Amino acid sequence: MDLQENDMLTRIGPGTPAGDTLRKYWIPVGFSQDVTSDEPRFVTWLGEDLVIFRDEFGRVGLIHPFCAHRNTSLEYGWIEGGGLRCCYHGWVYDIHGQCIEQPGEPQGSNFKDKIKLKSYPVREMGGVVFAYMGSGSAPELPNYDFLVREDGERVHHGYFRDVNFLQQLENALDPVHATVLHGREVNGTRAIASFREMPEFEVRATGEMACYISRRKGPEPGTELHREVAYFPPLLVVHDGGSLPGDPNPVTIDACWRVPVNDYKTRSFIVKFKPFKDGRLVEENKRDRAVVPPLMRGTRQQYDMTTVNGQDCASQVGQGSLTDRSLEHLGYSDRGVILVRRLWNETIEKSLRGEDPPNLITRSEENAMVHFDVREIVVKQGELSDHVPTVIKLTPHGF
Ligand code: FES
Ligand SMILES: [Fe+2]
Repeated sequence: MDLQENDMLTRIGPGTPAGDTLRKYWIPVGFSQDVTSDEPRFVTWLGEDLVIFRDEFGRVGLIHPFCAHRNTSLEYGWIEGGGLRCCYHGWVYDIHGQCIEQPGEPQGSNFKDKIKLKSYPVREMGGVVFAYMGSGSAPELPNYDFLVREDGERVHHGYFRDVNFLQQLENALDPVHATVLHGREVNGTRAIASFREMPEFEVRATGEMACYISRRKGPEPGTELHREVAYFPPLLVVHDGGSLPGDPNPVTIDACWRVPVNDYKTRSFIVKFKPFKDGRLVEENKRDRAVVPPLMRGTRQQYDMTTVNGQDCASQVGQGSLTDRSLEHLGYSDRGVILVRRLWNETIEKSLRGEDPPNLITRSEENAMVHFDVREIVVKQGELSDHVPTVIKLTPHGF
């Protein structure tokens, strides 16, 4: 890959090909539980500095972070007066960025009506706050099953990492790293059993997803553990699509967005939805790891190589926050990584041509509920040999 393509796939600021493509979708920008009316937060998404706040009516605003009066950062402001009040001279902005009060101006002045900060539409679903950072009208916010279903429990988890988002997306379709990086015993950690042997895997892609499929020996003779991990542009990775409502053997949904903060930093938004069985949560086999002394590595001793997170940080941040792909030497084992890049490239190309990029839903009839058919399951050998992950859109009339 040359440097020009490297930049095209990774740089996400306003006006860049990848940035403009991402701005056609709703993008996660927070968990509802973290956006409170206690205080506004200074945030950066897709390379743009913003302030996020929840007003007294419970509505979330995502607006330009500096006051239009004399540029004070609104992160020091107060939630009151029907919006966000600047700490300096008290101008108040509502969630649309409209100035609605200026305490120092004469009574009856209409100066405030002429003041409006940039703002983006925000929606909340299943504990996730989404923003539409594009121009023009927003598409449908997909009714992801793991965000709208009520027959189970949702768990939210997130973290920041100092790498470009594409490095994290590539990592998802790289099963070899799981064995080498996470399968190694460090300070006596027991490697996760399923990571110990080098996997056989195939890769598949359609216009809407890229995936790897690995098959390992199952617990009984004649069975196999069939595991799919799929990337759905622009930013979603599904590790397990779980089961549909009403399935007698419910399976947890495990999905994750890798959202660019800027070109060099990414926030992961992970949501698990655990469906109830007979009205109750099912006990899961936890992937327990022995607690061992940490082994910090790196010149700043910043990453604990006994944890999966520390190992992933070391390997990904170690590539450089925005890695130079012109220096790589890709092999047979990198065919999943190649498919991620190719699909993201096609997504950008489509968007540049003015076509709808994949997984964009524009018609409400297609948006009763969106399910990802991505499986991790023990089956009879060969039983799922033709299966490829898909997006299933439930219409008001069913699938
Ligand atoms: S700088 Fe914000 S009100 Fe003056
Ligand atoms: Fe990993």
